[in-house]
Amino acid sequence: MISNLEIRESRPSDAAGIEQLYVDTFPDEDLLPLVRGLLNLGQRAISLVAIREKIIVGHISFTFCHVEGGKDKVALLGPLAVTPALHKQGIGSALVQSSFKQMESATIGYIFVLGDPAYYSRFGFKAEDKVTTPYPLPTEWHGAWQSLKLCDAEAPHEGKISVPEPWRQIALWTS
Ligand SMILES: CC(C)(COP(=O)(O)OP(=O)(O)OC[C@H]1O[C@@H](n2cnc3c(N)ncnc32)[C@H](O)[C@@H]1OP(=O)(O)O)[C@@H](O)C(=O)NCCC(=O)NCCS
Repeated sequence: MISNLEIRESRPSDAAGIEQLYVDTFPDEDLLPLVRGLLNLGQRAISLVAIREKIIVGHISFTFCHVEGGKDKVALLGPLAVTPALHKQGIGSALVQSSFKQMESATIGYIFVLGDPAYYSRFGFKAEDKVTTPYPLPTEWHGAWQSLKLCDAEAPHEGKISVPEPWRQIALWTS
């Protein structure tokens, strides 16, 4: 693990640094509307930053959601970004593990993610087929919709995940 890394909840003054991180990490994708929207969700989302030498080098967000027709407290992981120069040094894993602790404190039982299974399987995520995405995924992405059970939660109600407004952009789920 990289040295001198601090992980903490983000503050309003971190916004510019977080935005720059996403510009640098996703040069071909504009995630800023999503990121800004999530930062404005207040207590309906968790946002953690990884800081090294006073610079934001990583960020993760979790959004509290529910499954339509159910009462389960679930969360959606994303986005996650680590500054390209510091990939493969454990920053992404440290952010994910720190956020799991926060989820457990918030009594969240299930976490969902749309991401590369080759990365998220290392944390125990498995393909999800009972809870569905807000928009139908392209066929080739089906294995990318995954879930992870935290603590001793019961499996959530079957149905579509209901996400807050920043996540209701079809392009986030289809391209
Ligand atoms: C994905 C990302 C957050 C990982 O952060 P990181 O700090 O490099 O991750 P870690 O150091 O904790 O883990 C690195 C490991 O994950 C692997 N990895 C990283 N991205 C991966 C991917 N998309 N698919 C498979 N494995 C991946 C690395 O090869 C490395 O493997 P190793 O431990 O066997 O050497 C970072 O690479 C990133 O910001 N990528 C661009 C943005 C992105 O794709 N975000 C969404 C993730 S699906």
